[in-house]
Amino acid sequence: MIFDVSTTELPLFEGDLLAIPVFEGKLDESPLKDVDSALNGRLSRLAGLESFEGKSEQLLVYNPDGKLGAGRVALIGVGDRKGFTAPEARMIGVIAARAGKACKAKSIGLAMPKVTKGRQDAVVEAMANGVVLGGYSFDEFKGDTKPGVLEQVMVVSKELGGARKRVAKAALERGASVASAVNQARDLVNGPANQVTPEYMAGVAKEIAKEHGLKVKVRSRAECEKLGMGLYLAVAQGATNEPRFIHLQYEPPKGRAVRSVALIGKGVTFDSGGLSLKPPKSMEDMKCDMAGGAAVIAAMAAIARAKPPVCVHAVCAATENMPSGNAQRPGDIVKGMSGRTVEVLNTDAEGRLTLADAIHFIKKENVDEIIELSTLTGACMVALGKYTVGAMTEQDDLAKRFLAAADTAGEDMWRLPLVPRIAKELKSNVADCKNIGGPWGGAISAGLFLVPFAGETPYLHLDIAGPAFSDSPWGVHPKGGTGVGVQALVEYVTRSVPARFGKKR
Ligand code: BES
Ligand code: MN
Ligand code: ZN
Repeated sequence: MIFDVSTTELPLFEGDLLAIPVFEGKLDESPLKDVDSALNGRLSRLAGLESFEGKSEQLLVYNPDGKLGAGRVALIGVGDRKGFTAPEARMIGVIAARAGKACKAKSIGLAMPKVTKGRQDAVVEAMANGVVLGGYSFDEFKGDTKPGVLEQVMVVSKELGGARKRVAKAALERGASVASAVNQARDLVNGPANQVTPEYMAGVAKEIAKEHGLKVKVRSRAECEKLGMGLYLAVAQGATNEPRFIHLQYEPPKGRAVRSVALIGKGVTFDSGGLSLKPPKSMEDMKCDMAGGAAVIAAMAAIARAKPPVCVHAVCAATENMPSGNAQRPGDIVKGMSGRTVEVLNTDAEGRLTLADAIHFIKKENVDEIIELSTLTGACMVALGKYTVGAMTEQDDLAKRFLAAADTAGEDMWRLPLVPRIAKELKSNVADCKNIGGPWGGAISAGLFLVPFAGETPYLHLDIAGPAFSDSPWGVHPKGGTGVGVQALVEYVTRSVPARFGKKR
């Protein structure tokens, strides 16, 4: 897709769809005013008839019938001007892309909403981000759907000419880059488990590495065995599809790294529960149990394009969780890379076993901090609902910095406490710990299980079980995989970390 900036007068903009953001109650303001006058007030009269007031996410599509350069006009409500930040600007793009899809637009013009000069770049970036997110659909396996036809997106504003154009174009590229990483994560999550196997995920990681010059190492079952990853392999032992331990690494030019960050994602390509088998309904969407892994792998592409002065690792211990004659049994005692022994009382609490070895593995690479994302517990969905990520860490500073980045990126995350008393429930009579705790606080219990494996390394656990996958569209997301976490990770690594740890000039 081509993104560009145009300084054409709005009524003269030639394209299939011209999207015009409208603040609530501000139907007499530019940019709507400029187009409305060219149409002798037809647009504002239609808005009145259709009760279009510019309320958030309202949409009104109009056919100007040759009286404008554009084939269609879409008025997009943005709500109150006071609450207008990047997430609202992103929604303009999302709705424009959806409207464009509905009228098979090849080219879309986005009129620039009226904001102060200092905020223009952030708005442009967010709108481009939204267009790419909103254009997403997963129809690889559908015979009757045609691929998207959108080829060109123009931000139209007389204020973005001259020297400002270059800056605006860079913002467009960046917004689109991150969103395309989100879409790649969505594709991986939506891909069925008979396609998206651990080997398939490793293949995608290798492709990304090749395209962006990243280091990549994929370890086999035997290689993981040599490293002593007994917890990860205990989960993998029941599966016929071979596990793959995926490790990607981005390094800035020599001497420029101000910090080293590890991103870990749960990569259970299908979670049947193992011998502690899930009931059929609970199993239906369990192809999504690698959403964390998909997020960290896909985020690396956008991170590599942004070239931050930060060393970034992405790790995904990919495996299926299956029942078989070889599967681990409830009651088994297993030992991973760290030497800690675990009594496996429920084989459906498998994510934490795979993650424990991934965390210990990357800790030994001497990273400064570990951020891990996982569809870890149904309990987190009970606690926070479908739209919010549960964040757990013992480091207040890390929590503060990461949650601020997530907020800027428009991802809703909420911190849960690592209650010490709940940790006691993970004590085992026969091993160093067991893999399930008591009946209450399951999300916290899972977080507490993982904390010892990070040791002294600052560690943040994000439970994405709620937002990773959805039966119905919400916000910027279609139904199915959402790519949750990608935007927050990229924002954190490419802007938050360099701003906090970069050399002061
Ligand atoms: N992958 C599931 C968690 C999950 C549930 C993700 C719903 C997405 C949607 C995880 O492996 C799991 O099965 N967790 C158990 C833990 C329990 C056995 C302690 C759960 O949440 O029931
Ligand atoms: Mn499970
Ligand atoms: Zn799982």
